[in-house]
Formats: sequence, structure tokens, C-alpha cells
Amino acid sequence: MRTQIAIIGAGPAGLMLSHLLHLQGIESVVLETRGQQAVESTIRAGVLEQGTVDLLNQTGLGERMRAEGAQHHGIRLAFGGQQHRIDLTELTDRAITVYAQHEVLKDLIAARQAANGQLHFEVEQVELKALDSERPQVYYRHQGEQRRIDCDFVIGCDGFHGISRAAMPGGLRQDYTRIYPFGWFGILVEAPPSSDELIYARHSRGFALISTRSPGVQRMYFQCDPTENVEQWSDDRIWNELESRLENHDGWSLKKGRIFQKNVVGMRSFVTEPMRCKRLLLAGDSAHIVPPTGAKGLNLAMADVCLLSQALETFYRHKSWRRLDSYSDDALQRVWRAEHFSWWMTNMLHTRSDDSAFQQRLQLSELQYTVKSRSAMTVLAENYVGSPFQMM
Ligand code: FAD
Ligand code: DHB
Repeated sequence: MRTQIAIIGAGPAGLMLSHLLHLQGIESVVLETRGQQAVESTIRAGVLEQGTVDLLNQTGLGERMRAEGAQHHGIRLAFGGQQHRIDLTELTDRAITVYAQHEVLKDLIAARQAANGQLHFEVEQVELKALDSERPQVYYRHQGEQRRIDCDFVIGCDGFHGISRAAMPGGLRQDYTRIYPFGWFGILVEAPPSSDELIYARHSRGFALISTRSPGVQRMYFQCDPTENVEQWSDDRIWNELESRLENHDGWSLKKGRIFQKNVVGMRSFVTEPMRCKRLLLAGDSAHIVPPTGAKGLNLAMADVCLLSQALETFYRHKSWRRLDSYSDDALQRVWRAEHFSWWMTNMLHTRSDDSAFQQRLQLSELQYTVKSRSAMTVLAENYVGSPFQMM
């Protein structure tokens, strides 16, 4: 099979890239190892920056998000028994939207399928070949048959555990990593919202986060050991832990309900540079990971492919490598800003067993300053809502 762009992975990065290329009249084939149902039901992120929302709206994918997502104009930081509001819209003129990643994926898949896009699920043994030639090739197995794609470019959108990053020449690639000694225990609960805005809480027992999915389903997280076994956590134990960490003197209380999903995610910061070598380019989690505290992972993936689709358009329309040549540097500017912000939020809100009393005091002082100083609040708000995506 011959196509212009072979995209490895049907996560947010791969599907959005394929959609954007289609709108520009550029052909692509997307290969995904998992089944459609698995892709559409994996529970991950929930917060969309305004840039992601604008991109979905401008490319005709915003209808369900506008109907079912919830726009939030602020977030709360909770510590010392009190909640403090950061007014995102007043400080930045922008807002965030809570709409689950798997709903975005359903919308993207429906749009690609409606346009007869080449989107192949349950492929196996994907191999990238001839990446330093003018005609890279992708080999894979699908429905019991060996297949091959000849293309102009291969785009690795296959997440942190994919194969694309490893296909970058080792001598060229520089990886930057930080592993955190904690993870997040996430639950989905049938209950009304406990708050009309997200609450990020710091407590001596550890971090907790109250988020939402819909008027009847809530998403909550608390800091845990990264190797924690969810089987060891009864519903009562989970509620006791969340109530302790969210204790407050203002009469606010947690609304409980039936917990129908429990999972643990580890946390790391990771960046690989550069994000392009010849005709192989990386986007999203295949090139960078952030701890989830800043809600950046999905949004960075969208920002990458927004740049990349424009770089590819410039290549095909003007026969110019200019934007492909600058893609890695352009994307990494936003990536490193998000890396710093996510690392900073994580450190400010999580506790470590080896924290000294001195470090605990510094952490509380930083939180107090962050909710008191308009400049500090603006720094948080600007980073949280994200800067506008670079459009044509
Ligand atoms: P992915 O979504 O990982 O998509 C990559 C796709 O490639 C997958 O569908 C995978 O099956 C496929 N693939 C892998 N290898 C191959 C191969 N060899 N061939 C073909 N296909 C392949 N971010 C937040 O902001 N908040 C959160 O709460 C949050 N929770 C998360 C929980 C988990 C368990 C994980 C893993 C991530 C979470 N993230 C969160 C991060 C966010 O979901 C990611 O940043 C986002 O999914 C990145 O999109 P992506 O398209 O780059 O990669
Ligand atoms: C959610 C996830 C995040 O990582 C975050 O910072 C806020 C909300 C969520 O899943 O709703």
C-alpha cells in the first residue's frame, strides 16, 4: 500500500493528526495495536486546555464536547483546612473544559471513519524500515496477513511504550528522565459533584484531587505508592483516606457513592530530543511524559500534532522543509514549559516520607504565597490554561 503519511498509534496524537491532514488534503494511514473498543474505553485524562477545545471546535469535532463537557473558570487549592480559589478566567481570560479523553477519542474515530479514513485496529508486529531513505516503509500483520506501507514520512504517535522512539538513531537521541516515588490511585464514582470546580489538595497524608466527568459520575485521585495494589483498598478505606486529606473547616464535604473503577498510575517526567530525524517524527507521549498534576499530557499531544500538520502542509504545498526542520525546536518549547509546570505543581502538592520539617514548611509557604499573590496566581493560571496553539 502507498500513502503519504504512516501514523503509528491511534491515541489523541495519531487520530488528531490524521484528521488534520485529511482536512488539508493529505493522505494518511493509522495503525493501532489495540482494538477500537479498548481504545474507546481506556480511562485517562479529563482536562482540556482552551487550545485543545479551540482545535476541536475549529476542525468540526466540538459538538458533543460542547453539549456534554463542562467549562470551568477556576480551580481550588486546598491545604490547612481551607480551600482557595484561583480564578482562571479573571486572571487569563481563558478557561478549561472537563471532557474525558476517551470521549475525545470516540469523536475522532467517528470522524475518521465517516471520512473513510484508513484506520486499522488490532495490527501486530509493526516494524519501521528504511527510515533514512526517501521512501520509508512500515511492515505489520493485520487479519492474519503480512502487509507493507510505503510512505513519505512515518509519525510515531505510539505513546511512551511504543516502538517509534527506539527507531531514532541512538547517537542522536538524548533522553531526560525523572521518576517520582509516588503514583495516583484513581477512582470513578457514581455520585453528584462534590464541587463545581476541581480541587487540588495538599495534606500531610499526601495529595488528593477532586475532578468530575458528568453530573452523575465523579473522578477522584489520591497520592499512593506506585506499586499499590487496588485489591487492598476497600471502598471504606478509600473514602476514609480521601476524607482525611480533604478535611476542611469551611463546612465543605465530600459526596460519596458507588465506586465502579479503581486504578493506579505511576508518575514520571520524560523528554527525548530531538523529536525528528529525517523522515521519522515523534508526537505526544512517544516523545514526552509529564506527571498528571498539571493536566498537560493530552494537551501537549494535541499541540504537537497541530504544529506537525502545518509543517507537513508546508512541505507538500510549498515543497519546503522549513517547518519540518524547525518542528522539534518549536514543539520542545511548549513541552519544556509543561514539564516545568507539571514538576512544580507535583512538588508543591505531594508529600514524601523523607520530607524534613523544614521542607514541609517551605511547601506550605509556597502554597500560601501562590494563593495570596496575584502575580503567583497568574503564573499558575497561565500555565494551567496553556498558551494558545500556534495556528497557520
Ligand atoms: P497514547 O494515548 O498513549 O496513544 C498511543 C497509542 O499507540 C495507544 O493507543 C497504543 O495502543 C498505540 N500503540 C502503542 N504501540 C504501538 C505500536 N507498536 N503500533 C501501533 N500502535 C501502538 N494525562 C492527564 O493530563 N491526566 C491524567 O489523568 C492522565 N492519566 C493517564 C493515565 C494513564 C494510565 C496514562 C498511560 C496516561 C495518562 N495521562 C493523563 C496522559 C495522557 O493520557 C497522555 O498524555 C495522552 O494519552 C497522550 O496521547 P498520545 O496519543 O501521545 O499517546
Ligand atoms: C484530571 C486529571 C488530571 O491529571 C488533572 O490534573 C485534573 C483532572 C481528570 O482525570 O479529571
